[in-house]
This record gives sequence, structure tokens and C-alpha cells, in this order.
Amino acid sequence: MTGRSNGAQPKRTAVLISGRGSNMAALVRAAEQPDFPAEIALVLSNRADAPGLDFAKEHGIPTLVLSHKDYSDRVAFDAALDAHLKAEGIEIVCLAGFMRLLTPWLVERWRDRMINVHPSLLPSFKGLHTHERALEAGVRVHGCTVHFVRAEMDEGPIILQAVVPIEADDTPDALADRVLAQEHVIYPKGLELLASGRLTVAEERVLIEGARGGLAPLVLPVV
Ligand code: GAR
Repeated sequence: MTGRSNGAQPKRTAVLISGRGSNMAALVRAAEQPDFPAEIALVLSNRADAPGLDFAKEHGIPTLVLSHKDYSDRVAFDAALDAHLKAEGIEIVCLAGFMRLLTPWLVERWRDRMINVHPSLLPSFKGLHTHERALEAGVRVHGCTVHFVRAEMDEGPIILQAVVPIEADDTPDALADRVLAQEHVIYPKGLELLASGRLTVAEERVLIEGARGGLAPLVLPVV
């Protein structure tokens, strides 16, 4: 563990991925900055071929592949996952494109210590294909959300959101690119807020210490 100039130890954080891992990379880069309050101590994938694993290795981060195919059911997989996180002394878990539904048992064990990034302005467009669905719905603004994880998919107290306006000639791919760029901005900010102890959850709403009214600043796109 590296020490920080303010004397606090960075929070040992695991990032769970299933594929590309660009959000994981954004978290890793942020945590490489001096005085970031979290260190990425483990990158775990449920797929051995997840491209993100190479990035983690290149950055000297311990990686682990835990294939769900090696376990009889979700309960067994989640128990093994939890045991690994515990063995590594993990304090915070970041889901970053981890395409596995977690059992309520695991989610509860990590309550208010497990966060996720989702490519929509929740609670709109939970699930997959969010960009196509946003365009189909004709919404004027889309975006992304960092939130605490709860048992229901893509649910939980909202920490940060970034807004991405829809353009007249938008395509799902173009929109996805602009949203992803904002995910890479707000996910490290969300981890920073959590790891520095500035977040409180009261009645399933997030209060941010030091923020006006405890409310998250709305992150607007840089245009
Ligand atoms: C990201 O867009 C993330 O928001 C999304 O998967 C992608 C993973 O990309 N997650 C979800 O949809 C969760 N419900 P990445 O592997 O490059 O970070």
C-alpha cells in the first residue's frame, strides 16, 4: 500500500469486469494520481478473454479470472467471489461492465461499498441497449449514472449523473461514444467521493459531504 500525503491509507478497491474494461482503465488511471483515496488492488473478470485484463496487467495490477462456468449456480459463484474479495482485503467494489446478475446475499454484504456505472440517466433505460432505446424513445437528453448497487438490476441510490444531449442525426454508436466519454469522467469521481468518506446514504438518497445541499453536482458535457 502506498501512503498518502494526508496520512490516510487508500481504500483497497476491486474492479469487476466482463469485457473491454474501458471504465476499469479510467479508474486505474485516476487511482494512479497522487493522493487519490483509492487504490485498484484487484481486477477480477468472469471471462478469461476479457480484453481489459491485459490493460490491468500492463499497469501492474493483480488480476483474477473467476469463471461462472466453474460454479454450479449463482449462489456458489457469489460465495467464491466474496471469499476472494475478502482474502484480498478489499474494501470497495466497482462493477465496470460486469455482466453478471449478483445475488441479493452478495449485494447486501457489500451494501454501500459496491458501486456501478450504467449508460443511461437512471431510473430511465435500465438493462441493455440503452442508447438505441433512448433514440427510439425520442428523449432530448441521455447520459450515464454512477450509483450504489442494490439487488434489483441497475437500481440503487444515485451518486453522480452526466447529461449528454441527443443530436439531430444521432446514431446509437455515436451516442454510445459520447456517453462512454462521460462515464470515464464520473466513475472516477464517484469512486473518489466514496473512498474519501464523503458519501452518506439516507433513505436511499445520497448525501455528499461538502456539496451544496448534499446534492451531487450535475456533470454537464464538455462541448
Ligand atoms: C459501459 O458502458 C457500462 O456503463 C455498461 O457496460 C459498458 C462496459 O464498458 N454497463 C452496464 O450496462 C451495466 N448495467 P467497459 O467494459 O468499456 O467499461
